[in-house]
Amino acid sequence: SSFLSQQQQKSHKGRKIPFTGSVHGGLQEGKSIIVSGRVLPHANRFHVNLQCGSRAGADIALHVNPRYDGQPYMVTNTFQHGCWGSEERKHNLPLPSGSNFTLQITVTRDFYQISVNGGTFMDFRHRLAYQQVDTISVDGSVEVSSISFMSAAFPTQAGFPSFPAFPPHLSLGFSVSSQVVPYKNFISGGLHPGRTIMIQGTILSGATRFHVNLSHPSGIALHYNPRFNENAVVRNTKLLDRWSSEERGGGMPFQWGQPFTLTFICENNVFRVVVNGMQAHVYNHRFTPLSNINILEIDGDVQLSSVSL
Ligand SMILES: *[C@@H]1O[C@H](CO)[C@@H](O)[C@H](O)[C@H]1NC(C)=O
Ligand SMILES: *[C@@H]1O[C@H](CO)[C@@H](O)[C@H](O)[C@H]1NC(C)=O
Repeated sequence: SSFLSQQQQKSHKGRKIPFTGSVHGGLQEGKSIIVSGRVLPHANRFHVNLQCGSRAGADIALHVNPRYDGQPYMVTNTFQHGCWGSEERKHNLPLPSGSNFTLQITVTRDFYQISVNGGTFMDFRHRLAYQQVDTISVDGSVEVSSISFMSAAFPTQAGFPSFPAFPPHLSLGFSVSSQVVPYKNFISGGLHPGRTIMIQGTILSGATRFHVNLSHPSGIALHYNPRFNENAVVRNTKLLDRWSSEERGGGMPFQWGQPFTLTFICENNVFRVVVNGMQAHVYNHRFTPLSNINILEIDGDVQLSSVSL
């Protein structure tokens, strides 16, 4: 889309603030919006709004507003028919000024669940129907490196996760520096539970294999390697020059000539790999600390359209 290409041009600088963009596909239960960036040093405040429309004075279904007059705290609120509602405040916000962060807002039936750096911080009960939200805006003392959207990415039942097939994960890949393979980029701040990496592209027809490396300075924490000639996705870990033992189960979710969305969800104990909205593979962490995993590499018989870190 033109929106995407506009953002990709701003590769290194991240999003210009104030930022307003559309929430592709609207909100549904289970959908998450993930904002990554950095709170500016000496920040005053910043906000992320989920809005019903983009015009000035539009209703705001969720106003997420970290403030820095003293110890960081969070103010949440709604704005409807030109008036603010009653504020909800929560203290001990683990989001110091000057620090990088990931803010995740997940829609549930009754509330928005707000997580900071992978940990649940607070819930905000719906006052306006989340179905009306179509716009996200960000402003204030913040730098945004990526905003991504993910549909129901967490298991609904222990052991038998289910993911809606539609809509597939959508992302605004504006932290991309290049879509050319081989692709290599730094994962700023490294991985941590709650962080996701989304890769969109198309498998070349006649492809033999491609791979994604989640790497660190002395090896590869996860080498994810779909092999069409073996009809398997091989996963493995490499430390210095030594490969560990391969995992191959779980089938081949990619097809020649087909577009795909490949999402790596870093959790406490595993990488959860979701392809086109369906969980494809789970890989137990073999390399820690996760924060040292700071390089993303992609190569092989694949064309990339967006990468969101
Ligand atoms: C923090 O995020 C910014 C982008 O907002 C990035 O340029 C920087 O490298 C990150 N710093 C660390 C320590 O990850
Ligand atoms: C990924 O890791 C493999 C194995 O070390 C290496 O051969 C390949 O070049 C790496 N990919 C990229 C794009 O750097």
